[in-house]
Amino acid sequence: MAALKGRDLLSLQNLTTDEVLELLHLAAQLKSGQVNIRCNKVLGLLFYKASTRTRVSFSVAMYQLGGQVIDLNPNVTQVSRGEPVEDTARVLDRYLDILAIRTFKQQQLETFAKYANIPVINALTDSGHPCQILADLLTIQDCFGQLTGLTLTYLGDGNNVAHSLLLGCALVGINVRIATPSEYQPDPTIVENAQEIAANKTEITITQDPIAAVNGSNILYTDVWASMGQESEASARIPLFQPYQINEQLLSIADKSAIVLHCLPAHRGEEITHEVMEGSQSKVWDQAENRMHAQKALLASLLGAD
Ligand code: CP
Ligand code: NVA
Repeated sequence: MAALKGRDLLSLQNLTTDEVLELLHLAAQLKSGQVNIRCNKVLGLLFYKASTRTRVSFSVAMYQLGGQVIDLNPNVTQVSRGEPVEDTARVLDRYLDILAIRTFKQQQLETFAKYANIPVINALTDSGHPCQILADLLTIQDCFGQLTGLTLTYLGDGNNVAHSLLLGCALVGINVRIATPSEYQPDPTIVENAQEIAANKTEITITQDPIAAVNGSNILYTDVWASMGQESEASARIPLFQPYQINEQLLSIADKSAIVLHCLPAHRGEEITHEVMEGSQSKVWDQAENRMHAQKALLASLLGAD
């Protein structure tokens, strides 16, 4: 599969609906063992923020493809001593075949992509987490056997995950409702982009009302109330976000066969209760596993492996 060969994945806006569906199809085939792809390439991981799932799932995916991984820990490379991104990108381009970056500003990721010719992947920025959403869509497809026409409700902070969910759901025809406190709504530009993609075919709702947002929904989704880099605001946010907690009461308003997703790590007792997280409707462990399958498909596609 060479569909995305040489491209970057900086945002889900880089992909068309067909490309997302093709990636999900390949991920499902890789997961079931129906196809086996080998590619002897080298992936660099440049992560300026902590990570368990993204780091390990990218590494295992690359090893299973027959490739190698180099952890470019910023603390022991020259990037932490101020070497310009433009220089680092041009050097890494000469060694690596593909590079996944987790950082703060989307602009820094874009600069890496501009100066490196190899594919650059957004492994999370403050404004998006596209790889997470590819795994989420795979999980929804696994659970419901379809994507189009379902309704997903995201509750909590209008953050990076909410942004990529808006774009990803719009691309595949999942109606999306985002319920947040008024001062934590998603970036209006990203909402507008998602609305353009949805083009009257898919409903996008931004609300402050968690109950109306959950009513009859097929998928409830949440994430931490304070993201990496916002830890100092975490305790002050708790009372404001409390009505958006996914608990058994809120879940009972959703469709009877609704599933619950969380990108993890979770703060039990804040955005989600222990009971819901461990309950029968929670699919969070399957969702975490799917990070690996979705990213294996993404790596194979960007590298043009078959
Ligand atoms: N969901 C997610 O990206 O997890 P990590 O921060 O552990 O990579
Ligand atoms: N919104 C969270 C996601 C972690 C995977 C953060 O950016 O910290």
